[in-house]
Amino acid sequence: MVDGLRPSGAALSGQVDAAMRAVPRHVFVPDVSLERAYGPDPVVTHRDGDGVPVSSASAPATVAGMLEDLDVRPGHRVLEIGAGTGYNAALLARLVGPTGSVTTIEYDEAVASAARAALSGLGAAVTVVHGDGMLGVPGQATFDRIVVTAGAWDVQGLGGSS
Ligand SMILES: C[S@@+](CC[C@H](N)C(=O)[O-])C[C@H]1O[C@@H](n2cnc3c(N)ncnc32)[C@H](O)[C@@H]1O
Repeated sequence: MVDGLRPSGAALSGQVDAAMRAVPRHVFVPDVSLERAYGPDPVVTHRDGDGVPVSSASAPATVAGMLEDLDVRPGHRVLEIGAGTGYNAALLARLVGPTGSVTTIEYDEAVASAARAALSGLGAAVTVVHGDGMLGVPGQATFDRIVVTAGAWDVQGLGGSS
């Protein structure tokens, strides 16, 4: 999966490359085949009563690009809006290392609960909060990095420092 991320030949940074090789994506999308789990596409994990997708694991190339842009360093305090499967939070936990912290917020309770279970099964030190990311997580602020992996109208007032 990681080898296929940059067909143009541009390399991932060492940290993002190592994190994506270390964190098993299939743990976060347990209902699909390994081929799908490690394929190039997003994987829908939850749908509403009408069958409309409400949560997914983003495409690996999107995840990698966002992590590169975020420039996470060891020791950072990171907030993610939109826990989804928890996969990106697990990658963030690798990037911040034992001296950093990752908080992720998810407004769908069933999705939050599944993410929490997958993350704790892997031993990833991530705090999964059930709530609306639009309000931020003031109890855990401040943050060195905030990443929004959900649709957003605005990025003001999340309680971050950058
Ligand atoms: C594309 S998925 C996130 C993918 C996730 N980062 C991962 O690694 O699997 C978007 C998620 O954001 C959640 N979401 C959307 N708006 C939100 C909000 N205002 N607050 C919290 N979660 C939100 C959705 O319920 C959905 O689970």
